[in-house]
Amino acid sequence: MRIRFEPAGVTTEVEVGKTLLEAADAAGVEIESVCGGQGTCAKCKVLASGSLSVPNDLELDGLTPTELAEGYRLACQAVITGDLQVMVPEGSRISQVSILQEGVQGAAQLQPWVHRHTLRVSPATLEDQISDLANVSRTWQQQNGAELSLTLRALRQLPFALRERDGHITAIAVDEHSVRMEAGDGPAHLLGIAFDIGTTTVVGYLLDLESGKQLAVSSLLNPQTRYGDDVVSRIEFSMRDETGLETLQREIVQALNRIISETTRAASVSPEDIFAVTVVGNTTMHHLFLGISPAALARSPYVPAATRALCLRAGELGLAVYPDAQVCVLPNIAGWVGADTVGVILATNLPSHEEVALAIDIGTNGEMALGSRRRLVTCSTAAGPAFEGAHLSCGMRAADGAIDTVAIDGDVSWHTIGESAPRGICGSGLVDLIAEMLRVGVIDPTGMMQDGATLRANGHKSLAERISQQGRHRAFLLVESDKGAGGRPIQVSQRDVRELQLAKGAIRAGIEILMKELGIGPDDVKRVYLAGAFGNYIRPASALAIGLIPRFPNAQIVPVGNAAGSGAKMALLSATARRHASEILTMVEYLELSARPDFQEEFAEAMAFE
Ligand code: FES
Repeated sequence: MRIRFEPAGVTTEVEVGKTLLEAADAAGVEIESVCGGQGTCAKCKVLASGSLSVPNDLELDGLTPTELAEGYRLACQAVITGDLQVMVPEGSRISQVSILQEGVQGAAQLQPWVHRHTLRVSPATLEDQISDLANVSRTWQQQNGAELSLTLRALRQLPFALRERDGHITAIAVDEHSVRMEAGDGPAHLLGIAFDIGTTTVVGYLLDLESGKQLAVSSLLNPQTRYGDDVVSRIEFSMRDETGLETLQREIVQALNRIISETTRAASVSPEDIFAVTVVGNTTMHHLFLGISPAALARSPYVPAATRALCLRAGELGLAVYPDAQVCVLPNIAGWVGADTVGVILATNLPSHEEVALAIDIGTNGEMALGSRRRLVTCSTAAGPAFEGAHLSCGMRAADGAIDTVAIDGDVSWHTIGESAPRGICGSGLVDLIAEMLRVGVIDPTGMMQDGATLRANGHKSLAERISQQGRHRAFLLVESDKGAGGRPIQVSQRDVRELQLAKGAIRAGIEILMKELGIGPDDVKRVYLAGAFGNYIRPASALAIGLIPRFPNAQIVPVGNAAGSGAKMALLSATARRHASEILTMVEYLELSARPDFQEEFAEAMAFE
């Protein structure tokens, strides 16, 4: 069947029985699919005309009667039965997300674990018929006082390298293994690349391992998002689809290879000179990158396949760098606290703090660590999706057209990313909006949205006009249809407020339980590190206003940007930092919140606004 996608102007041919989402995938047309095609997020709305299955129950639930009458369908549910024309509206297209690249650089000194060793090897003679390997080993031993160990690839290079420049050769060693033998002085740069694989975004930092200089950085949307926005939907996809795990691994490796290609091109260097790679990510991203089934992470007792740091060969993972380059995947702490948190702990140097500090990283999940050099505890909360716009009727990622700040001063004003017409609201905008709605009394401390009459009686006439009844729930009109992208209004429903309450309740309860575990109160916390979207996109004042974090009267608030990525860079540049990453695993205590009898109580309490 011929399917034409507009406005991309792409036509593809697919078999009867495929969904519109599968056809779009085949045509390279990107459609939002937050739930991974489960039919529950209603983000994949398209306008279709032609031959399709009748709308199923999920479509009848996810689309309004007006949308159904206009011809809107859920791309993941509508099954192709004949030729079609499909219009992908702006709100359903994946747009460029804002990706946080900058972080902090901890105190790691440059202490490379990749070295160049230049050797002058005397040639073998008829009188001394020494093998090439024994010959180089002898010179190496004299120069370095240690045994030479080399990979098969390096051994294959050795005879050529030795004879090309009369025994003047360079060995590139990663840790104690020589991985490349080259005639002359070797490559101009010894390179390394550090990756932060986030559920939504992937960032790569290309570094010169001898100078410590960052040569280039590049980032992109994690291509796995097309199989689900959050880790749970990706785990489900890997289990549901026969080739799901393989697909997800291939997607992430291709994404890393794109970053390798972009950064090396930008720095005018060769990917063949990348000898070291470090990787951080949450435990699910870690497993998917390595092609390990994450199924056990989704079931009690939520056990990962491996926690300790792993060192692997780039070639066996399919990374387009020097094939014998070493890929160091930082350790995971637990099933839901991964190597990205190890990166944050490394970058903020929590294990050497004299006084108690808290580090919170809110991405798609919320992970936190609290403590000092005496004791360090960590936990994870299933909190993130609301802060990344998922699970909200009006939510979207921090991309072009997302409302990222809101103020209510008599009337409502907002700002969008890229100054474009608003398409939805992202986490930081939602936190702002709820803080403002709370301040002016549009919602009460329990989160209940007030009716128009109450607001009018309290002197908020223009706000009262923004309240409407949508079925059984109230909604607040944030953007009028004449200002919204595609002439669509943006409303925040009572359910959206409840979603945010669930998310903020989980994070707040996590912090409270960590404090309880250490037997301390907010007064004892002297530093709060805000990592990830937090502190960079979410305004701390609004986060405090809605009670997302407690008021820490004695604490200095320090935004640390992409601290997970900073940790990966530190481990790339310093053998000591890499060792510390492994030591963190033995120092940190993990608290499984679902096993805590007090979690539900804390959570219920934390749901309310202060
Ligand atoms: S409803 Fe289609 S991808 Fe979520």
